[in-house]
Amino acid sequence: MTFSTIPDDRPLRGVIVGAGFIGGQWAPELLLHPGTRLVGWADVEESRAREAADSLGLDDLPVSSSATGLLEGAEPDFIVNCTVPAAHHEVTVAALERGVSVISEKPMAVTFAEAKSMVAAADHAQRLFAVSQNRRHLPGLAAYRRTVAGLGPLGMVSSEFSIPYRGAPFLDTLEHPLIQDMAIHLFDAARAVSGTDPVSVYCESFQPPWTWYPGNCSATAAFEMTGGVRYTFTGSWSAPGFPTSWTGRWQATGTRGAARWDGDATVSVDPAKGETLETYEVGPDPFPGRTRFQGLAEQLEEFVTGLRTGRPPQGECHDNLRSLAMVTAALDSARAGTRVAVPV
Ligand SMILES: NC(=O)c1ccc[n+]([C@@H]2O[C@H](COP(=O)([O-])OP(=O)(O)OC[C@H]3O[C@@H](n4cnc5c(N)ncnc54)[C@H](O)[C@@H]3O)[C@@H](O)[C@H]2O)c1
Repeated sequence: MTFSTIPDDRPLRGVIVGAGFIGGQWAPELLLHPGTRLVGWADVEESRAREAADSLGLDDLPVSSSATGLLEGAEPDFIVNCTVPAAHHEVTVAALERGVSVISEKPMAVTFAEAKSMVAAADHAQRLFAVSQNRRHLPGLAAYRRTVAGLGPLGMVSSEFSIPYRGAPFLDTLEHPLIQDMAIHLFDAARAVSGTDPVSVYCESFQPPWTWYPGNCSATAAFEMTGGVRYTFTGSWSAPGFPTSWTGRWQATGTRGAARWDGDATVSVDPAKGETLETYEVGPDPFPGRTRFQGLAEQLEEFVTGLRTGRPPQGECHDNLRSLAMVTAALDSARAGTRVAVPV
Protein backbone atom coordinates (compact mmCIF):
# COMPACT_ATOMS: atom_id res chain seq x y z
CA MET A 1 0.00 0.00 0.00
CA THR A 2 1.28 3.46 -0.86
CA PHE A 3 -0.43 6.76 -0.23
CA SER A 4 0.58 10.37 -0.70
CA THR A 5 1.80 12.28 2.31
CA ILE A 6 1.21 15.94 3.16
CA PRO A 7 4.12 18.10 4.38
CA ASP A 8 4.14 19.37 7.94
CA ASP A 9 3.82 23.09 7.09
CA ARG A 10 0.09 23.61 7.75
CA PRO A 11 -2.77 22.02 9.69
CA LEU A 12 -4.72 19.26 7.92
CA ARG A 13 -8.20 20.34 6.82
CA GLY A 14 -10.94 17.91 7.89
CA VAL A 15 -14.64 17.62 7.03
CA ILE A 16 -17.03 15.46 9.06
CA VAL A 17 -19.77 13.66 7.14
CA GLY A 18 -22.66 12.56 9.36
CA ALA A 19 -23.89 14.58 12.33
CA GLY A 20 -25.43 11.83 14.43
CA PHE A 21 -24.05 10.31 17.63
CA ILE A 22 -20.51 9.47 16.54
CA GLY A 23 -20.09 12.57 14.34
CA GLY A 24 -20.66 14.57 17.52
CA GLN A 25 -17.83 12.65 19.22
CA TRP A 26 -15.35 13.17 16.36
CA ALA A 27 -15.83 16.93 16.02
CA PRO A 28 -14.16 17.86 19.35
CA GLU A 29 -11.20 15.65 18.41
CA LEU A 30 -10.58 17.62 15.20
CA LEU A 31 -10.90 20.86 17.18
CA LEU A 32 -8.49 19.74 19.90
CA HIS A 33 -5.78 18.14 17.76
CA PRO A 34 -3.03 20.70 17.13
CA GLY A 35 -2.47 19.41 13.60
CA THR A 36 -6.07 19.47 12.31
CA ARG A 37 -8.76 22.03 11.50
CA LEU A 38 -12.47 21.32 11.15
CA VAL A 39 -13.50 23.08 7.91
CA GLY A 40 -16.99 21.69 7.25
CA TRP A 41 -19.74 19.32 8.34
CA ALA A 42 -22.20 17.52 6.05
CA ASP A 43 -25.34 15.54 6.78
CA VAL A 44 -28.20 14.59 4.46
CA GLU A 45 -30.31 16.33 7.08
CA GLU A 46 -28.46 19.64 6.88
CA SER A 47 -30.19 21.01 10.00
CA ARG A 48 -28.49 18.28 12.05
CA ALA A 49 -25.07 19.44 10.88
CA ARG A 50 -25.97 23.08 11.62
CA GLU A 51 -27.26 22.25 15.10
CA ALA A 52 -24.24 20.07 15.86
CA ALA A 53 -21.84 22.83 14.76
CA ASP A 54 -23.74 25.52 16.65
CA SER A 55 -23.71 23.40 19.82
CA LEU A 56 -19.89 23.61 19.71
CA GLY A 57 -19.96 27.37 19.13
CA LEU A 58 -19.00 26.93 15.45
CA ASP A 59 -21.59 29.34 14.06
CA ASP A 60 -19.45 30.12 10.98
CA LEU A 61 -18.60 26.51 10.08
CA PRO A 62 -19.81 25.68 6.54
CA VAL A 63 -22.44 22.90 6.55
CA SER A 64 -24.14 21.11 3.68
CA SER A 65 -26.67 18.40 2.94
CA SER A 66 -24.18 16.94 0.47
CA ALA A 67 -20.72 15.57 1.20
CA THR A 68 -19.69 16.22 -2.39
CA GLY A 69 -20.62 19.90 -2.03
CA LEU A 70 -18.13 20.28 0.82
CA LEU A 71 -15.51 18.11 -0.87
CA GLU A 72 -15.43 20.67 -3.63
CA GLY A 73 -16.03 23.82 -1.59
CA ALA A 74 -14.06 23.29 1.63
CA GLU A 75 -10.91 21.77 0.05
CA PRO A 76 -10.39 19.16 2.77
CA ASP A 77 -7.31 16.95 3.08
CA PHE A 78 -9.46 14.29 4.74
CA ILE A 79 -13.01 13.45 5.75
CA VAL A 80 -14.26 11.53 8.77
CA ASN A 81 -17.08 9.31 7.49
CA CYS A 82 -19.60 9.13 10.35
CA THR A 83 -22.61 8.16 8.24
CA VAL A 84 -24.71 5.03 8.62
CA PRO A 85 -23.05 1.87 7.23
CA ALA A 86 -25.27 1.83 4.11
CA ALA A 87 -23.75 5.20 3.08
CA HIS A 88 -20.11 4.36 3.85
CA HIS A 89 -19.27 3.16 0.33
CA GLU A 90 -20.78 6.12 -1.52
CA VAL A 91 -19.28 8.77 0.79
CA THR A 92 -15.82 7.20 1.05
CA VAL A 93 -15.44 6.57 -2.68
CA ALA A 94 -16.62 10.11 -3.50
CA ALA A 95 -13.85 11.47 -1.26
CA LEU A 96 -11.12 9.17 -2.53
CA GLU A 97 -11.99 9.91 -6.16
CA ARG A 98 -11.43 13.60 -5.40
CA GLY A 99 -8.04 12.89 -3.86
CA VAL A 100 -9.28 13.28 -0.26
CA SER A 101 -8.10 10.82 2.41
CA VAL A 102 -10.64 9.09 4.67
CA ILE A 103 -11.04 7.97 8.27
CA SER A 104 -14.25 5.96 8.35
CA GLU A 105 -16.29 4.71 11.23
CA LYS A 106 -16.65 0.95 11.37
CA PRO A 107 -17.78 -1.19 9.65
CA MET A 108 -15.93 -0.29 6.46
CA ALA A 109 -18.89 -1.32 4.28
CA VAL A 110 -22.00 -3.48 4.18
CA THR A 111 -20.65 -6.11 1.75
CA PHE A 112 -17.21 -7.51 1.02
CA ALA A 113 -17.50 -6.53 -2.65
CA GLU A 114 -18.17 -2.90 -1.65
CA ALA A 115 -15.21 -2.95 0.75
CA LYS A 116 -12.87 -4.32 -1.92
CA SER A 117 -13.91 -1.59 -4.33
CA MET A 118 -13.24 1.04 -1.64
CA VAL A 119 -9.73 -0.33 -1.06
CA ALA A 120 -9.18 -0.33 -4.85
CA ALA A 121 -10.33 3.31 -4.95
CA ALA A 122 -7.78 4.19 -2.23
CA ASP A 123 -5.03 2.40 -4.18
CA HIS A 124 -6.01 4.12 -7.42
CA ALA A 125 -6.09 7.57 -5.78
CA GLN A 126 -2.99 6.82 -3.66
CA ARG A 127 -4.80 8.24 -0.65
CA LEU A 128 -4.84 7.04 2.96
CA PHE A 129 -8.05 5.22 3.89
CA ALA A 130 -8.36 3.85 7.44
CA VAL A 131 -11.24 2.50 9.50
CA SER A 132 -11.45 3.62 13.11
CA GLN A 133 -11.55 0.52 15.32
CA ASN A 134 -11.42 2.45 18.56
CA ARG A 135 -11.07 -0.70 20.72
CA ARG A 136 -7.52 -1.15 19.36
CA HIS A 137 -6.51 1.89 21.40
CA LEU A 138 -7.92 0.75 24.74
CA PRO A 139 -5.10 0.45 27.30
CA GLY A 140 -6.72 -2.81 28.46
CA LEU A 141 -6.57 -4.33 24.99
CA ALA A 142 -2.92 -3.32 24.61
CA ALA A 143 -2.06 -5.01 27.95
CA TYR A 144 -4.04 -8.14 27.05
CA ARG A 145 -2.37 -8.34 23.64
CA ARG A 146 1.07 -8.33 25.26
CA THR A 147 -0.03 -10.87 27.85
CA VAL A 148 -1.46 -13.25 25.22
CA ALA A 149 1.79 -12.98 23.23
CA GLY A 150 3.47 -14.72 26.21
CA LEU A 151 1.17 -17.76 26.16
CA GLY A 152 3.17 -19.60 23.50
CA PRO A 153 1.43 -21.09 20.48
CA LEU A 154 -2.30 -20.40 20.85
CA GLY A 155 -5.05 -22.98 20.53
CA MET A 156 -8.23 -21.13 21.48
CA VAL A 157 -9.55 -17.60 21.90
CA SER A 158 -13.09 -16.79 22.98
CA SER A 159 -15.09 -13.65 23.62
CA GLU A 160 -18.56 -13.16 25.08
CA PHE A 161 -20.56 -9.97 24.54
CA SER A 162 -23.73 -9.30 26.56
CA ILE A 163 -25.24 -5.83 26.53
CA PRO A 164 -28.86 -4.67 26.82
CA TYR A 165 -28.94 -1.94 24.18
CA ARG A 166 -31.31 -0.06 21.91
CA GLY A 167 -29.29 2.29 19.74
CA ALA A 168 -29.50 4.44 16.60
CA PRO A 169 -32.67 3.90 14.49
CA PHE A 170 -30.66 2.43 11.59
CA LEU A 171 -30.02 -0.67 13.72
CA ASP A 172 -33.73 -1.51 13.51
CA THR A 173 -33.46 -1.68 9.72
CA LEU A 174 -30.76 -4.40 9.80
CA GLU A 175 -31.49 -8.11 9.38
CA HIS A 176 -28.60 -9.05 11.74
CA PRO A 177 -27.80 -5.89 13.77
CA LEU A 178 -25.30 -7.55 16.14
CA ILE A 179 -23.18 -9.10 13.39
CA GLN A 180 -23.64 -6.29 10.87
CA ASP A 181 -22.86 -3.38 13.20
CA MET A 182 -21.25 -4.44 16.50
CA ALA A 183 -19.37 -7.70 15.98
CA ILE A 184 -16.61 -6.05 13.91
CA HIS A 185 -15.20 -4.59 17.17
CA LEU A 186 -14.81 -8.06 18.69
CA PHE A 187 -13.67 -9.72 15.46
CA ASP A 188 -11.04 -7.05 14.86
CA ALA A 189 -9.90 -7.34 18.49
CA ALA A 190 -9.61 -11.13 18.07
CA ARG A 191 -7.22 -10.60 15.15
CA ALA A 192 -5.24 -8.03 17.13
CA VAL A 193 -5.01 -10.16 20.28
CA SER A 194 -4.19 -13.48 18.59
CA GLY A 195 -2.05 -12.20 15.72
CA THR A 196 -3.99 -14.53 13.41
CA ASP A 197 -6.27 -14.05 10.40
CA PRO A 198 -9.58 -15.72 9.57
CA VAL A 199 -9.82 -18.88 7.45
CA SER A 200 -13.44 -20.12 7.78
CA VAL A 201 -16.53 -19.61 9.94
CA TYR A 202 -19.78 -21.22 11.03
CA CYS A 203 -22.26 -18.68 12.41
CA GLU A 204 -25.81 -18.69 13.74
CA SER A 205 -27.61 -15.37 14.12
CA PHE A 206 -30.95 -15.42 15.90
CA GLN A 207 -33.55 -13.71 18.10
CA PRO A 208 -34.09 -14.68 21.70
CA PRO A 209 -37.86 -14.73 22.46
CA TRP A 210 -37.76 -11.53 24.54
CA THR A 211 -35.75 -9.38 22.09
CA TRP A 212 -36.66 -5.76 21.43
CA TYR A 213 -34.99 -5.77 17.96
CA PRO A 214 -36.84 -6.52 14.71
CA GLY A 215 -33.68 -8.26 13.43
CA ASN A 216 -31.38 -10.97 14.78
CA CYS A 217 -29.63 -9.34 17.73
CA SER A 218 -27.83 -12.43 19.07
CA ALA A 219 -25.24 -14.72 17.52
CA THR A 220 -22.65 -17.41 17.98
CA ALA A 221 -19.74 -17.80 15.57
CA ALA A 222 -16.88 -20.32 15.44
CA PHE A 223 -13.90 -19.23 13.35
CA GLU A 224 -10.90 -21.22 12.23
CA MET A 225 -7.99 -18.79 12.21
CA THR A 226 -4.52 -19.16 10.67
CA GLY A 227 -2.28 -21.62 12.52
CA GLY A 228 -5.34 -23.72 13.41
CA VAL A 229 -6.38 -21.34 16.21
CA ARG A 230 -10.12 -21.45 16.98
CA TYR A 231 -11.86 -18.17 17.86
CA THR A 232 -15.41 -18.39 19.20
CA PHE A 233 -17.78 -15.47 19.68
CA THR A 234 -21.07 -15.42 21.59
CA GLY A 235 -23.00 -12.20 21.79
CA SER A 236 -26.31 -10.49 22.37
CA TRP A 237 -27.64 -6.95 22.28
CA SER A 238 -30.80 -8.11 24.07
CA ALA A 239 -29.00 -9.47 27.12
CA PRO A 240 -31.11 -9.14 30.26
CA GLY A 241 -28.37 -10.06 32.78
CA PHE A 242 -24.63 -10.32 33.56
CA PRO A 243 -23.55 -7.51 31.20
CA THR A 244 -20.03 -7.64 29.82
CA SER A 245 -17.95 -4.62 28.89
CA TRP A 246 -18.57 -3.05 25.47
CA THR A 247 -15.50 -4.99 24.32
CA GLY A 248 -16.75 -8.27 25.78
CA ARG A 249 -15.09 -10.72 28.17
CA TRP A 250 -12.13 -12.72 26.87
CA GLN A 251 -10.11 -15.90 27.36
CA ALA A 252 -7.11 -17.10 25.34
CA THR A 253 -5.34 -20.44 25.83
CA GLY A 254 -1.85 -21.40 24.66
CA THR A 255 0.74 -24.06 25.47
CA ARG A 256 2.03 -22.06 28.46
CA GLY A 257 -1.33 -21.29 30.07
CA ALA A 258 -4.40 -19.09 29.77
CA ALA A 259 -5.14 -15.38 30.03
CA ARG A 260 -8.40 -13.59 30.73
CA TRP A 261 -9.46 -9.99 30.18
CA ASP A 262 -12.70 -8.46 31.44
CA GLY A 263 -12.70 -6.04 28.50
CA ASP A 264 -11.87 -3.22 30.89
CA ALA A 265 -8.92 -2.88 33.29
CA THR A 266 -8.41 -6.43 34.59
CA VAL A 267 -6.06 -8.91 32.90
CA SER A 268 -5.29 -12.18 34.70
CA VAL A 269 -3.29 -15.31 33.91
CA ASP A 270 -3.32 -18.97 34.92
CA PRO A 271 0.00 -20.63 33.97
CA ALA A 272 0.25 -24.28 32.92
CA LYS A 273 2.06 -26.54 35.42
CA GLY A 274 5.72 -25.56 35.65
CA GLU A 275 5.27 -22.30 33.70
CA THR A 276 5.32 -18.68 34.81
CA LEU A 277 3.45 -16.02 32.92
CA GLU A 278 3.77 -12.27 32.92
CA THR A 279 0.79 -9.91 33.03
CA TYR A 280 1.18 -6.39 31.77
CA GLU A 281 -0.26 -3.42 33.63
CA VAL A 282 -3.18 -1.71 31.98
CA GLY A 283 -1.72 1.70 31.15
CA PRO A 284 -3.33 5.00 32.15
CA ASP A 285 -5.68 7.00 29.91
CA PRO A 286 -3.33 9.16 27.78
CA PHE A 287 -5.91 11.99 27.94
CA PRO A 288 -6.86 12.05 31.65
CA GLY A 289 -9.55 14.41 32.87
CA ARG A 290 -11.09 14.88 29.43
CA THR A 291 -14.60 13.64 28.61
CA ARG A 292 -14.22 11.82 25.33
CA PHE A 293 -15.20 8.76 23.34
CA GLN A 294 -12.22 6.52 23.98
CA GLY A 295 -9.89 5.73 21.11
CA LEU A 296 -10.86 8.50 18.68
CA ALA A 297 -8.04 10.88 19.71
CA GLU A 298 -5.52 8.04 19.40
CA GLN A 299 -6.90 7.04 15.98
CA LEU A 300 -6.75 10.65 14.78
CA GLU A 301 -3.16 10.98 16.00
CA GLU A 302 -2.12 7.81 14.12
CA PHE A 303 -3.97 9.03 11.01
CA VAL A 304 -2.28 12.46 11.10
CA THR A 305 1.11 10.79 11.63
CA GLY A 306 0.31 8.54 8.68
CA LEU A 307 -0.47 11.49 6.41
CA ARG A 308 2.72 13.25 7.51
CA THR A 309 5.12 10.30 7.38
CA GLY A 310 3.60 7.51 5.26
CA ARG A 311 3.42 5.16 8.29
CA PRO A 312 0.05 3.35 8.07
CA PRO A 313 -2.24 3.77 11.09
CA GLN A 314 -4.04 0.84 12.71
CA GLY A 315 -7.23 0.17 10.78
CA GLU A 316 -5.49 0.93 7.46
CA CYS A 317 -7.93 -0.35 4.85
CA HIS A 318 -5.93 -3.32 3.48
CA ASP A 319 -5.56 -4.70 7.01
CA ASN A 320 -9.10 -3.80 8.10
CA LEU A 321 -10.49 -5.70 5.10
CA ARG A 322 -9.50 -8.93 6.94
CA SER A 323 -11.75 -7.93 9.88
CA LEU A 324 -14.64 -6.89 7.62
CA ALA A 325 -14.30 -10.26 5.85
CA MET A 326 -15.05 -11.97 9.19
CA VAL A 327 -18.35 -10.07 9.35
CA THR A 328 -19.45 -10.73 5.78
CA ALA A 329 -18.44 -14.41 5.93
CA ALA A 330 -20.30 -14.83 9.26
CA LEU A 331 -23.41 -13.36 7.58
CA ASP A 332 -22.98 -15.69 4.58
CA SER A 333 -22.70 -18.65 6.95
CA ALA A 334 -25.76 -17.61 8.99
CA ARG A 335 -27.83 -17.27 5.81
CA ALA A 336 -26.59 -20.54 4.26
CA GLY A 337 -26.57 -22.60 7.47
CA THR A 338 -23.12 -24.00 6.65
CA ARG A 339 -19.43 -23.31 7.34
CA VAL A 340 -17.99 -20.94 4.73
CA ALA A 341 -14.48 -19.84 3.75
CA VAL A 342 -13.59 -16.26 4.73
CA PRO A 343 -12.81 -14.39 1.49
CA VAL A 344 -9.42 -12.81 0.88
N1 LIG B 1 -16.76 3.22 17.26
C1 LIG B 1 -17.86 3.05 17.93
O1 LIG B 1 -17.86 2.51 19.04
C2 LIG B 1 -19.16 3.52 17.33
C3 LIG B 1 -20.22 3.94 18.16
C4 LIG B 1 -21.39 4.38 17.54
C5 LIG B 1 -21.51 4.38 16.15
N2 LIG B 1 -20.46 3.95 15.40
C6 LIG B 1 -20.57 3.88 13.92
O2 LIG B 1 -20.74 5.20 13.42
C7 LIG B 1 -21.62 5.21 12.31
C8 LIG B 1 -22.78 6.17 12.59
O3 LIG B 1 -23.45 5.75 13.75
P1 LIG B 1 -24.32 6.78 14.62
O4 LIG B 1 -24.68 6.05 15.88
O5 LIG B 1 -23.62 8.09 14.71
O6 LIG B 1 -25.62 6.89 13.68
P2 LIG B 1 -26.67 8.11 13.65
O7 LIG B 1 -27.89 7.54 13.00
O8 LIG B 1 -26.77 8.74 15.00
O9 LIG B 1 -25.96 9.19 12.67
C9 LIG B 1 -25.71 8.95 11.32
C10 LIG B 1 -25.88 10.28 10.56
O10 LIG B 1 -25.46 10.07 9.19
C11 LIG B 1 -26.33 10.84 8.37
N3 LIG B 1 -26.26 10.31 7.00
C12 LIG B 1 -26.77 9.16 6.52
N4 LIG B 1 -26.45 9.03 5.21
C13 LIG B 1 -25.69 10.10 4.87
C14 LIG B 1 -25.04 10.52 3.68
N5 LIG B 1 -25.10 9.79 2.55
N6 LIG B 1 -24.36 11.69 3.71
C15 LIG B 1 -24.30 12.45 4.82
N7 LIG B 1 -24.90 12.08 6.00
C16 LIG B 1 -25.58 10.94 6.01
C17 LIG B 1 -27.70 10.69 9.03
O11 LIG B 1 -28.61 11.69 8.62
C18 LIG B 1 -27.33 10.78 10.51
O12 LIG B 1 -27.38 12.12 11.00
C19 LIG B 1 -22.05 3.74 12.09
O13 LIG B 1 -21.24 3.15 11.11
C20 LIG B 1 -21.80 3.11 13.45
O14 LIG B 1 -21.51 1.73 13.37
C21 LIG B 1 -19.29 3.55 15.94
